[in-house]
Amino acid sequence: MRLTSLIITALLAPLGGLAAPLAADSIVTLEARQGNCPPKPKPCVRIVPDPTPQEYKARFEQFAEAFIYKKNITRAFEFITQDYINHNPMAQNGFDSAWGILCGIWNNQNLTPLRTLYQHPMGRVNYRSGFGTIIDRFRWEGGCIAEHWDSGEKWPTNTTADPAL
Ligand SMILES: *[C@@H]1O[C@H](CO)[C@@H](O)[C@H](O)[C@H]1NC(C)=O
Ligand SMILES: *[C@@H]1O[C@H](CO)[C@@H](O)[C@H](O)[C@H]1NC(C)=O
Repeated sequence: MRLTSLIITALLAPLGGLAAPLAADSIVTLEARQGNCPPKPKPCVRIVPDPTPQEYKARFEQFAEAFIYKKNITRAFEFITQDYINHNPMAQNGFDSAWGILCGIWNNQNLTPLRTLYQHPMGRVNYRSGFGTIIDRFRWEGGCIAEHWDSGEKWPTNTTADPAL
């Protein structure tokens, strides 16, 4: 417990100028919820041969449905690779770091889905949560999510369907 608290404090520290740090009591709440994680899935293994863009889009839609509509983090993380690169300043790279941060809090989030968009190979989801209005951008590779950004993301102005889809 104490170790978890120290790690979370260390993870939040670099946020300083980017966002208001979580209050001490939110950190305690986060820690208390670590024990309430749903089952952890196996990471996504890249599909060979590479799926078609249509298959990528279908997989993105399954991911978005699980992640922001159903808030089923177990299902959502079935699309994330073990070696996932995460540009979120609170997280280290990898499936395990992201899982550790989100698994205990995700299905308790008061989350309002706003929109989703797949433009091969990038998928985006936009929602309101306790952390504010968020745009997550995910780069897909081998039918899996291999990389993620969520700082300073803007919704594309050109949302015309990709001709490949
Ligand atoms: C979440 O997804 C997992 C994996 O697909 C599934 O086994 C589980 O039943 C789902 N949980 C809920 C609450 O729907
Ligand atoms: C918008 O995106 C579509 C699909 O990728 C592309 O065909 C079109 O040229 C783009 N339009 C502009 C103005 O960039």
